[in-house]
Amino acid sequence: MQGHTVSGVSLDPQEISLFNQAHLSNIYKNDFRLDIRDRQELSRAFAKIDPEVIIHLAAQPLVRESYKYPIETFETNVIGTLNVLEATRQLTNLKSSLIITTDKVYKNHNHLRGYVETDELGGDDPYSASKAAADIAAQSWIKSFANSPMAIARAGNVIGGGDWAIDRIVPDLVNAYSTGNLPLLRYPEAVRPWQHVLDCLNGYLSLVDLQLSAGATGEWNFGPEIQKRYSVAELVSTFATNWGVDTQPAWIRDEVSQPYEAGYLLLDSSKARSDLHWKDKLGFEETVKWTVDWYTNPEKLSIRSLCEAQINEFTRL
Ligand SMILES: NC(=O)c1ccc[n+]([C@@H]2O[C@H](COP(=O)([O-])OP(=O)(O)OC[C@H]3O[C@@H](n4cnc5c(N)ncnc54)[C@H](O)[C@@H]3O)[C@@H](O)[C@H]2O)c1
Repeated sequence: MQGHTVSGVSLDPQEISLFNQAHLSNIYKNDFRLDIRDRQELSRAFAKIDPEVIIHLAAQPLVRESYKYPIETFETNVIGTLNVLEATRQLTNLKSSLIITTDKVYKNHNHLRGYVETDELGGDDPYSASKAAADIAAQSWIKSFANSPMAIARAGNVIGGGDWAIDRIVPDLVNAYSTGNLPLLRYPEAVRPWQHVLDCLNGYLSLVDLQLSAGATGEWNFGPEIQKRYSVAELVSTFATNWGVDTQPAWIRDEVSQPYEAGYLLLDSSKARSDLHWKDKLGFEETVKWTVDWYTNPEKLSIRSLCEAQINEFTRL
């Protein structure tokens, strides 16, 4: 929609995915389906695309899947990222690359303050540890090889339309409420930096702009304002109200013993706010409402039109 020529490198999409629902294949000049763990294939694809900007999002991004498949999670998130980093070094027209890690890279001390970019990295579950390792690898590439600006973006818990991943809060709520059930919550008291996907992506694009105009590099947090701290239960209640569920609480506590998850996770995004002049445009209530609007789609738009309508509305804010 901004007029760029876009190419993609990914595994095949899941059958039910935003990619298929919104018929996104026709926006791509090149649509490479390959595994980023295959260094040669990836290098060949990058050489064919010859990009000016790379945004590396590919990952095994699910915490609970990482307990089931820890080796594959590390392989994709660490070796895959190393392959991306190395492939960028062969590209002569590359002007910027952005490596997407996560808020979960920080060693979690259940602080009531937000983590800042200089805080220590860590990670208990395999997903967090693998993303922290990918982040450290990218930092090493930034310090060691200076062919073009490379930066790292660490975003908060992203919600919004189009997510169909298993064991994620929003798809779980959609599946439960659309079938007349109440969702099971594993950690209702856990506090997370919820943010709308368009706010997150707006931050990523602002950072790419600063890379292109002024060579910005280093690590950058993107999260909601620090005062906006909401628990899983508050997110679910707001979601349920927007969905029209009248039972309160609109969820059931899952009493089965669950893999560990941190209680408190907040991000301090002062750096992005001051240096990029970025801010989250949608407050918590709007973030949840826009998400529910996407899944309920009251105007029965095509999924592509629904996404474009929300993007257009967002850019007008
Ligand atoms: N969703 C969140 O709340 C959140 C928050 C912070 C950071 N992130 C990060 O954002 C990025 C995107 O996450 P998402 O939530 O959109 O997940 P997603 O599952 O929608 O997207 C992940 C993509 O990676 C691709 N992929 C996975 N393994 C691959 C492999 N071996 N080779 C090639 N492609 C592969 C998948 O095909 C998919 O297109 C990830 O790096 C994730 O860690 C997500």
